[in-house]
Amino acid sequence: MKRINIALMGFLMTFSFSLYASKLVTPSLDDIEYPDDEAPSAREVELGKTLFFDPRLSLNEKQSCATCHNPDLGFGEGLETGIGTMGGGLGRNTPHIYNLAWNVSFFWDGRAGSLEEQALGPIQAAGEMNLPLEKLLPRLKGVKYYQDTFNAVYGDGITAQNVGRAIAAFERTLNAINTPFDKYLAGDKTAMGPAAVRGLALFEGKANCTKCHDGANLTDNSYHNIGIKGDDKGRAGINGEASMTGAFKTPGLRNVVFTAPYMHDGSEASLESVVKFYNRGGDQKKGRSDIIKPLDLTKQDIYDLVAFLGALTDPIDVVRPKIP
Ligand code: HEC
Ligand code: HEC
Repeated sequence: MKRINIALMGFLMTFSFSLYASKLVTPSLDDIEYPDDEAPSAREVELGKTLFFDPRLSLNEKQSCATCHNPDLGFGEGLETGIGTMGGGLGRNTPHIYNLAWNVSFFWDGRAGSLEEQALGPIQAAGEMNLPLEKLLPRLKGVKYYQDTFNAVYGDGITAQNVGRAIAAFERTLNAINTPFDKYLAGDKTAMGPAAVRGLALFEGKANCTKCHDGANLTDNSYHNIGIKGDDKGRAGINGEASMTGAFKTPGLRNVVFTAPYMHDGSEASLESVVKFYNRGGDQKKGRSDIIKPLDLTKQDIYDLVAFLGALTDPIDVVRPKIP
């Protein structure tokens, strides 16, 4: 009788586990969809990296992509909201750009559909780099390294499209896939400390984080209003759906320790304050997703969740290129 009970319990536990189990897995490089169906050459990646760090991409040659997406600050800026090359403030926080190779839409509101398309946005945006493409192309053509390398990598040399392609090729190499959490998933149960292990159970369970931060990069690639105060329309500003007012893209969480402050408006200064925000069910009920509710986490739970977020870390060394 006792045996049967244990067997039944085991069955029920497996059953309920498989019902609620999330799909947190290590991203596979094989799943990256490259526009040319194959990984770019080392030369193309180096070209994209050089462009990414080159201040020639801004009108007054003061700002490169890396000024805002600073590799020393987790490819963010460390500021609540960004500052453009002409000194004007931007409305949103500079997001990290880790593991975007698997991403399907870009910007906080998802308004760009590919990394290639995205890259040409900040170059031309008046508030950011403020450089029209008609000025960018002759500028690059005046540099021998760019002439030679664009010609070698792409048949048609220096074009706006190829600038986007090269930058995207570089961005697709910024992949954090060997974190303590990935080692833990692969079977090394010592890779995460006990707090992070408890934090993972909370992340998938009581704290309900995997409802949105799920899959290989801990994002559902969808948009939610999580109850942040403010009047940014978010996704609704792009698709006009009232239900998407104040909804923003669920960010991937790999290497998130490096990229403070957090959220589309940089309103949360630390991971601890992010978890406390979720614990109180956000700050604004109007328009908030039904998924977000007060969580009743203990102080220890909050600590453990932060420890788990810390276990999603795989520092990526980017050697700054020489600007030609
Ligand atoms: C002035 C600061 C600044 C500069 C310069 C800048 N960015 Fe950004 N970047 C931002 C901000 C702010 C956002 C978010 C804007 C939004 O979502 O509306 C962003 C968003 C992005 C995203 C989307 C990330 C995601 O998770 O969807 C990518 C990719 C990106 N930038 C790459 C670049 C590249 C490539 C360059 C250079 C060509 C560049 N950025 C230049 C501030 C900057
Ligand atoms: C309803 C879906 C949803 C749930 C549930 C959820 N998140 Fe989020 N998360 C988001 C969205 C959407 C954002 C971006 C919101 C914004 O900026 O307006 C975000 C942002 C974050 C950020 C900031 C990342 C950055 O780069 O700025 C962290 C960290 C985070 N969430 C962790 C968690 C944790 C931990 C939990 C569980 C306690 C959780 N999230 C639960 C959707 C969700």
